[in-house]
Amino acid sequence: MKIKSQLNQIVTQALLDADIPANDIIVSDATRPEFGDYQFNGVMKLAKVLKKNPRAIASDIVKHINTTGMISKVEIAGPGFINIWLNNDWLSTEATNILNDSRVGVGIVEKPQKIVIDYSGPNMAKQMHVGHLRSTIIGDTLATLLTFLGNDIIRQNHIGDWGTQFGMLIAYLEEQNADTEHQNLKDLEQFYKNAKIRFDQSEAFANKAREYVVKIQQGDAHCLTLWKQFIESSLGHCEEVYSKLGVNLTHDDVRAESFYNSELPNIIKILKDKNISTNSNGAECVFLEGSDAPVIVQKGDGGFLYATTDLAALKFRATNLEADRICYVVDARQAGHFKQVFAISKQAGMVGNDVNLEHIAFGTMMDKSGKPFKTRDGGTIKLIELLDEAIIRAKATIEKREDYSEEKFNEIAYAIGIGAVKYADLSISRESNYLFSWEKMLSFDGNTALYLQYGYARIQSIFRKHNAKLTGNIVIGDELEHRLALMILKFEDTLTKASIEATPHTITTYLYDLTTLFMRFYEQNPILKEGVTEDVKMSRLQLAQLTANVIEQGLEILGIKVVDKI
Ligand code: ARG
Repeated sequence: MKIKSQLNQIVTQALLDADIPANDIIVSDATRPEFGDYQFNGVMKLAKVLKKNPRAIASDIVKHINTTGMISKVEIAGPGFINIWLNNDWLSTEATNILNDSRVGVGIVEKPQKIVIDYSGPNMAKQMHVGHLRSTIIGDTLATLLTFLGNDIIRQNHIGDWGTQFGMLIAYLEEQNADTEHQNLKDLEQFYKNAKIRFDQSEAFANKAREYVVKIQQGDAHCLTLWKQFIESSLGHCEEVYSKLGVNLTHDDVRAESFYNSELPNIIKILKDKNISTNSNGAECVFLEGSDAPVIVQKGDGGFLYATTDLAALKFRATNLEADRICYVVDARQAGHFKQVFAISKQAGMVGNDVNLEHIAFGTMMDKSGKPFKTRDGGTIKLIELLDEAIIRAKATIEKREDYSEEKFNEIAYAIGIGAVKYADLSISRESNYLFSWEKMLSFDGNTALYLQYGYARIQSIFRKHNAKLTGNIVIGDELEHRLALMILKFEDTLTKASIEATPHTITTYLYDLTTLFMRFYEQNPILKEGVTEDVKMSRLQLAQLTANVIEQGLEILGIKVVDKI
């Protein structure tokens, strides 16, 4: 249900009827319950333009607002705010209508877009770190959300699989393969360290490594086979994490940096032909207005850089993938890089002006002491171990009930543990740094996945006691029911906002508020108690059902599972 756009239309019509110019009329959520459900705050601006008293304008508008349908009441407040209340009958009809709708009233966007989402992007020579975890979690939620709203999503996992370090790594892999059949890269970090030790220790090995750098670049078959073996094996580690996280990122979504290699000379050619780049001290550079340091696109020795590959990727995404919008879910520290490559790609016509380029930046993950997240002994956290720990801690948080089988208990702990890690990441405004705390993320109270999962399970327990079919209509009996029905109907507006701003926390905040409101409603408005009439019971059960449906659908978009019992 799109409430805001309907209200915008009603208010726009009222302005037109009052002979007031009506451009971009936007109604916002009321900041406090006593200000109604929504507010129109644009009168002051109009008053300035029209050189008229704001309260006079407001009263003119109010006179023309139709209060026979969706809106029940309008009031002027303060210097000229217009407070708007929605009609209870309207709310109950709309809410009753979506009871059996699998999308809980959420429609499809009017103009579906082709959207590329670049997320995860681990580097093959290294351990996947917490920054990649954040990118994976946020990116996957955006992909699910935008798909749910009817867009065509193309996931791109821009893995780092190219660079001089691969000479050393494949030389070492070759040695290992010779020693022991199929020595696996169990511990990438250790593997890298060992390779480095060999490199520093043996002149012959170091020479081989250097030789291999040149050979891979020239496409030598033997070296490429080894390189592919290395990439497949380290990608396997990442895919273990993806599968444990339950994210929808597959092998087919990988379009690695090396994919763009053959295009890189062409990128330089375009930049040169359009006089966008110049040679400076042997290197090919782009000087952008407003920044002192140039963007180097080709080094003096002919080598290309991270930025060159990203220009090729931008061109590919705009041209071959025909994207309308390209979202890069990458650490905020790369903001400068993206600003530069976006500007160059547009200037060079590699990306059309109508294509939206967005850096979906996120902050750094910190530990309790405010330092970047590390293990106790100072090493990098192994993500797979972090996720396993989440599940173990979830088991300790919830008690195993007697009626649970071991399997059921594992399933619940998985939903809660992984849900906690994901939700903690999604629920903060993404650009802030993020403080990692097991205690906070696995708490039953507060803005956590567990709180929502618990709320959902509580509603399921109501339905275990009441098995009969839901009949009749929702009847709004009091202020709390009014607010709850309205909150349920706000689901679509919430998802729309989150999809435009690429802010998953818009969804978590909403789901948290909805669950809190439901808990209050349930405390004050008993459902299955004696003395509650059948009509009231049916109405409240429907509100409970709708709340559960929204929580379930909302969490699904966040990639979090619900459970029937905790
Ligand atoms: N591999 C990069 C890193 O770890 C992230 C890649 C992001 N995507 C991109 N198109 N640059 O920093």
